[in-house]
Amino acid sequence: MRILVTGGAGYIGSHTTLSLLEAGHEVVVVDNLANSSSESLVRVGHLTGKNVDLRIVDLLDSAAVDELLGAGAFDAVMHFAGLKAVGESVQKPLMYYHNNVVGTINLLRSMDKHDVRTLVFSSSATVYGDNDRVPLTEGCELNASNPYGRTKEHIEDILTDLGSADSRWSIALLRYFNPAGAHESGLIGEDPLGTPNNLLPFVAQVAAGRHEYVKVFGNDYPTTDGTGVRDYVHVVDLALGHLAALSYLEGVQGTFSWNLGTGSGSSVLEVLDAFSAAVGKEVPYEFSPRRSGDSAVSYADPSQAMADLGWSAKRSLARMCEDHWRWQRSNPMGYSSDPASQHRGPQ
Ligand code: UD1
Repeated sequence: MRILVTGGAGYIGSHTTLSLLEAGHEVVVVDNLANSSSESLVRVGHLTGKNVDLRIVDLLDSAAVDELLGAGAFDAVMHFAGLKAVGESVQKPLMYYHNNVVGTINLLRSMDKHDVRTLVFSSSATVYGDNDRVPLTEGCELNASNPYGRTKEHIEDILTDLGSADSRWSIALLRYFNPAGAHESGLIGEDPLGTPNNLLPFVAQVAAGRHEYVKVFGNDYPTTDGTGVRDYVHVVDLALGHLAALSYLEGVQGTFSWNLGTGSGSSVLEVLDAFSAAVGKEVPYEFSPRRSGDSAVSYADPSQAMADLGWSAKRSLARMCEDHWRWQRSNPMGYSSDPASQHRGPQ
């Protein structure tokens, strides 16, 4: 199939682009490089022996998006592009709603106009909000607790309405739990802008000596060791989930949602142990107060994805940490570690 991947230079997008190419699909990436580097796709090119066709376009530029869809002869779109920093979304909600929701609407209108009605959307378990009812099933109430999460929830609503209004659409909403790890080559991985907010990239930067220690946000949660529990899922497993969803959509119409998680949770201290084992030395940490907005425990019931897509996460937490560390160790400053790769958008 010929697939348009929005945000394909980013963390999950680049791993999915790699898996699509490996599976024999043709891929065009559209990315504004606001929070990603074109170097990721150069490396996907090295890994696959194929050139990745990158168009530097912002989804807010509706004319450019329309031109792309009009000329592309695409069979489907995978939509990753979007802003994703929770704290920033609280400070700048208009920017988040405009970028994520309007960008998606521009994309959908052009898809509709040019008869491309198969879409895999990058949603997030963040749509469940602070919900201690675990494991989380797709039927749980949606109640995102910050503007970033609400952009995902609003887009899910739009896509659900679209799927019921017009039976020509086939749409997958993939709710990722906590993406972690990197491709086993160590060539592509997560390259966060500024100081990372998420646990794994922060732990990796501490291990690399970029920060002194990890602050463990809260050790008085009602969990086995008092620290927060999350469902970490390997980014390569996530990428394969997208391919499985795409195959499923070939035979159906409507909008479908699936949790992509492992189904089991790990505490912050368990992650620190696993990462220290991967590095071969202790990653230093200190306990600090809870981070506001965090829930104690979140993990998926991934059985729907298994039943419908035949998908399950295969890679362990140990493997995620080993792969994440291999990427971090060989790219201590992310893609900009490579002086040849300075193609990153304005920061
Ligand atoms: C966060 C976002 C969520 C987003 C998800 C993936 C918040 C409140 N939630 O979820 O909306 O979808 O990332 O991008 O920001 N932790 C530490 N020290 C750190 C960082 C994290 O102890 O320096 C702990 C957290 O308290 C949590 C766990 O590690 O228990 C995972 O945190 P994180 O990676 O930020 O993911 P989420 O909180 O699940």
